[in-house]
Amino acid sequence: MPQTWNPESYGRDGAFVHELAGGVLEWLAAEPGERILDLGCGDGQLTKRIADTGASVVGVDASRQMVAAARARGIKADNGPAEKLPYPDHIFEAVFSNAALHWIRGQDEMLTQVRRVLRPGGRFVAEMGGHGNIAAIRVAFSAVVARHGFASLGDRGNYYPTAETYKRRLERHGFAIQKLILFPRPTLLNNGGMTGWLNTFYRGALDSLPEQLRETVLKETVALLAPALHDHDGRWTADYVRLRFIATV
Ligand SMILES: C[S@@+](CC[C@H](N)C(=O)[O-])C[C@H]1O[C@@H](n2cnc3c(N)ncnc32)[C@H](O)[C@@H]1O
Repeated sequence: MPQTWNPESYGRDGAFVHELAGGVLEWLAAEPGERILDLGCGDGQLTKRIADTGASVVGVDASRQMVAAARARGIKADNGPAEKLPYPDHIFEAVFSNAALHWIRGQDEMLTQVRRVLRPGGRFVAEMGGHGNIAAIRVAFSAVVARHGFASLGDRGNYYPTAETYKRRLERHGFAIQKLILFPRPTLLNNGGMTGWLNTFYRGALDSLPEQLRETVLKETVALLAPALHDHDGRWTADYVRLRFIATV
């Protein structure tokens, strides 16, 4: 499934992603002068907050559009995949990542790269989707596209591991786990509601459907989800589960 990121809809219907990242930023505890890589930096909102602490931060992202949006914010950002980072060995005190690791297809390649660019004693501090993340949304979207003959579009291929699985994976790559938690984080959506969310985070899948079917799939998915995620005050809450960790080398 191709990923398609639109900085404009991300800025509008995905603003909660950086707004709710206070916890993982606290775990990062960036110090002035530290060299930090923001992996999957997106439009650079969090990269900017890290830079504001006085740390020397650079963002990297696989989407050219997102990198352009980050640079427009005055952030130093490079275009490239996490699986092949465009940096020399051992140059960062910390690698940070929010809401990006579950999108990365080559998990082992990415972890090899993170370890390679970290200095000895450096830390990898990240938050990502964890086991059970957006379960209702995934099931509803899969059911609707399958009904229309496009079952293969139901799975975006994102990776939502349990705490135990990711701990083992990090350890296999030589990381020592300092802290690692899995927690539900029901997330109130803004005015764009579930339609805005799907248009932002299922963009790749929607664009892969025949154009005349997109609106129908959106409407049917939203209708299927309403009894579970739409409340009596007219608000939508997405069923997020997060995995957050600090791992050192
Ligand atoms: C939900 S956004 C998160 C952006 C930002 N970290 C934030 O908290 O707002 C996920 C980002 O991961 C990036 N991404 C996905 N796969 C990637 C990969 N293999 N390498 C680098 N970036 C990737 C996407 O391009 C997208 O900008």
